[in-house]
Amino acid sequence: MLLVTGGAGFIGANFVLDWLALSDEAVINLDKLTYAGNPENLQSLQGDARHTLIPGDIGDAALVTRLLAQHHPRAVVNFAAESHVDRSIHGPGEFIQTNIVGTFSLLESVRGYWQGLPPAQKEAFRFLHVSTDEVYGSLAKDDPAFTEASHIEPNSPYSASKAASDHLVRAWHHTYGLPVLTTNCSNNYGPYHFPEKLIPLLIVNALADKKLPVYGDGQQIRDWLYVKDHCSAIRRVLEAGRLGETYNVGGWNEKANLDIVHTVCALLDELRPRADGKPYKEQISYVTDRPGHDRRYAIDARKLERELGWKPLETFDSGIRKTVLWYLDNPDWVAHVQSGAYREWLQKQYQS
Ligand code: NAD
Ligand code: DAU
Repeated sequence: MLLVTGGAGFIGANFVLDWLALSDEAVINLDKLTYAGNPENLQSLQGDARHTLIPGDIGDAALVTRLLAQHHPRAVVNFAAESHVDRSIHGPGEFIQTNIVGTFSLLESVRGYWQGLPPAQKEAFRFLHVSTDEVYGSLAKDDPAFTEASHIEPNSPYSASKAASDHLVRAWHHTYGLPVLTTNCSNNYGPYHFPEKLIPLLIVNALADKKLPVYGDGQQIRDWLYVKDHCSAIRRVLEAGRLGETYNVGGWNEKANLDIVHTVCALLDELRPRADGKPYKEQISYVTDRPGHDRRYAIDARKLERELGWKPLETFDSGIRKTVLWYLDNPDWVAHVQSGAYREWLQKQYQS
């Protein structure tokens, strides 16, 4: 079985759902259920004995040690993190606590468990750490895409905390021999994406007749990957990745934010036209830029393709259409995540 952490969040939930659709290997899902962790993402697994959701913190060493001893996982896949850059700017403390101190504690609990395994299980064990392209910092317009050899130059409290966690994972391999793998992925989008992030925020705001906030000039570039392609990359690295290595994961889909906004607006014009017949792009509103906003990310994913034969299946056109349709088909999910805490966040960030 697998121990997945943060598996009630956006990517973790997609990973657990896909994992159990493809195999019968059970999953223990340890999640602190912060504002971003949503058991409703896993509703389709209710009553499925292969999945157990355990509310708890990766930094709770006693709990993690007990779960490892009780369930004997062959691998740990670590998604648990504070993940939103804007929140890290307003309040970096939780990011330091979960992403750095929590990862340290998890590594120590896992090391204790791994060291006590019989030789064959010890050899087969894996700790896969899910990280981000943001650890590499920002690219200029004509710079080559980030490779695994790019400098680590994080610019936000979020990316600095993720870079620190990547360094800890690396050190636990080199110093203690812990069999680790790290993936550094670009921007994901798809079902169950919490609507504080750009793409789901645009869809939800557009349908609610609210403003579509574009930071600065909207010319910042991100490299977008459909979430299920990220999940397939993680499965492939878990299966065949070389120990101690990092693998960049990306969609070869560089887009300026304003292009993303226009694409989402055009899809909504087609699929759910506004009652007054006007285009959704009329709701676009330029707002103050994010402090320290990284200008461009781009991932060179050739190592993963060359060594492990991974390629994304979705194009941006197919993935974004599926995503918009998913939000249109799931108004209850959207309504339920728009809690009081969510409204407070919008108020703080956009003074709306
Ligand atoms: P998310 O914020 O949607 O989910 C994070 C999950 O972790 C939530 O379920 C939350 O409850 C849980 N969590 C938070 N603190 C915890 C703790 N201390 N102990 C246990 N659980 C805790 O994030 P996401 O977008 O799904 O990202 C998952 C991982 O992938 C993160 O590590 C993130 O850095 C990384 N990543 C995200 C993207 C992206 O585009 N979203 C891209 C690359 C990498
Ligand atoms: O690159 C991978 C990273 O992608 C992950 O590590 C992070 O966890 C994930 O949140 C994401 O970070 P970004 O900061 O790139 O994503 P976000 O959706 O917050 O913003 C995408 C771009 O859109 C970014 O340039 C900021 C801009 N933006 C965002 C919001 C929320 C806007 O213009 N308006 C907005 O309201």
